[in-house]
Amino acid sequence: MVCCWDDVAASLSIVVVLLLLLLLGGIFWYYSCGNDGAKGGARIPKGSSGWPLLGETLDFIASGYSSKPVSFMDKRKSLYGEVFRSHILGTPIVVSTDPEVNKVVLQNHGSTFVPAYPKSIRELLGQNSILQMNGNQHKRLHSLIGGFLRSPHFKAWITGDIQRTVKSTLASWEHSGEVLFQAEIRKMTFKVLVKVLMSVDPGEDLDFLKREFEEFIKGLICVPIKLPGTRLYKSLKAKERLLKLVERIVKERKFDMEEERSDEKRMVKDVVDVLLQENCDISNEKQGQVQGLPLDIICGNIIEMMIPGEETVPTALTLAIKFLSDSPHALKHLKEENMELKGRKDSSREEISWTDYMSLQFTQNVISETLRLANIINAVWRKAVKDVEIKDYLIPQGWCVLASLISVHMDDKVYENPYEFNPWRWEEMGGTANSSSFTPFGGGQRLCPGLELSRLEISIFLHHFVTTFSWVAEEDVVVSFPTVKMKRGLPIRVTPFCLNVA
Ligand code: HEM
Repeated sequence: MVCCWDDVAASLSIVVVLLLLLLLGGIFWYYSCGNDGAKGGARIPKGSSGWPLLGETLDFIASGYSSKPVSFMDKRKSLYGEVFRSHILGTPIVVSTDPEVNKVVLQNHGSTFVPAYPKSIRELLGQNSILQMNGNQHKRLHSLIGGFLRSPHFKAWITGDIQRTVKSTLASWEHSGEVLFQAEIRKMTFKVLVKVLMSVDPGEDLDFLKREFEEFIKGLICVPIKLPGTRLYKSLKAKERLLKLVERIVKERKFDMEEERSDEKRMVKDVVDVLLQENCDISNEKQGQVQGLPLDIICGNIIEMMIPGEETVPTALTLAIKFLSDSPHALKHLKEENMELKGRKDSSREEISWTDYMSLQFTQNVISETLRLANIINAVWRKAVKDVEIKDYLIPQGWCVLASLISVHMDDKVYENPYEFNPWRWEEMGGTANSSSFTPFGGGQRLCPGLELSRLEISIFLHHFVTTFSWVAEEDVVVSFPTVKMKRGLPIRVTPFCLNVA
């Protein structure tokens, strides 16, 4: 009898398990293929929504942690095609690995797609951040900042400043032996960034900005709960402290500007000047036509611009040094090109200008190849504000779209042997550097305004580093999640061979 009840219980358990599997399978099937919404001719791309609630988030994050972050995209691309749907981080999403679709997503004018950041980032940025705003207000702010950072006048001026910062950093390495490259270079690029934004020189204010900014960005990816003691709360408090300092700088500058109003033309030296000039011009001359930028928006944006600027340039430089350490042939070529420029300028006793740096063709190819392979910003996230059709794909209103830049950079149909660091490929590819297949700085309306400044800063550092030091890098690996960096911070052993670095 006992034996019989055991059998019944065992059979019942099997039935219950089978029913559960069927139910889960049904839910999975529904999410995977049953909900294949179509509208007119266009269809929501094929794909899987994964598990209820979780979607495919775990797989997405796991691939980010792996040595091949593009594997999430590659697997689905082979199953569903270049554009597929998924469900990541709590939202239904269309993922594009197609350069043409990416181009449309990047180029839109904010009437179809708006930036889509996680809640913690939205809280920390505020509505009036250049990274979140849309429409005419965004266009105006973007073109003011981009116009200034691209201007020959700015590049000529900042070149001297970057050179001084690079030289003093290198001078401090002369007797160090071992340098933790990633951390050291981050200190250096922060100095340049703060100079560009608000002309703060090394000293108390710079130290304060660095300390509080580090506290502020810790909350960018966190649980979005704003209670005392939480990460988000601490980061918001750090932003308040940053704002106080930036407000002081902006107000002092505005006062100076009003005092100097009689001057013929005031030289614009940083982003604070650019935004204030707009504020003053508009309040004095164009009143009634357009609204000037209020001071709180200026101050907020100075801090918010530090977010895309702070980690990207040092990461690019760190990975350039990593790739060059592993490619002695490329390093030799780079050194020769830069030694030639140094020799020429030393003998004519001329300063190296920004155009000299930018004319170093192989150096520029090393930078392009680093940016392609590093994929510092590997994707751009947007949200559709209405139903959008691109090619034959439908992106429903409210869905996110992820334009995967890394998938194109690592596609063997676009780049031969994409995992190989090969700066020479750019000689053969020529103009492709600006096409939709090479988008390390994004594109369209939100194309990175720091593009030329970043390339210039990287060129200047590479020039001075390879012409004054040799180095040996210790074993280290690139990690890609949540942001791209070297796992051990890239320790290198440096030896100066040309001592006049200071
Ligand atoms: C290697 C260095 C850099 C890389 C790879 C990079 C990459 C990018 C990318 C991909 C975007 C587009 C984001 C989107 O479409 O949502 C972007 C936007 C932006 N970047 Fe950069 N960036 C770099 C350096 C800088 C620097 C140095 C600054 C500041 C001086 C800066 C300021 C910005 C700003 C303000 C935006 C937002 C533009 C807008 O939404 O209108 N970036 N960057």
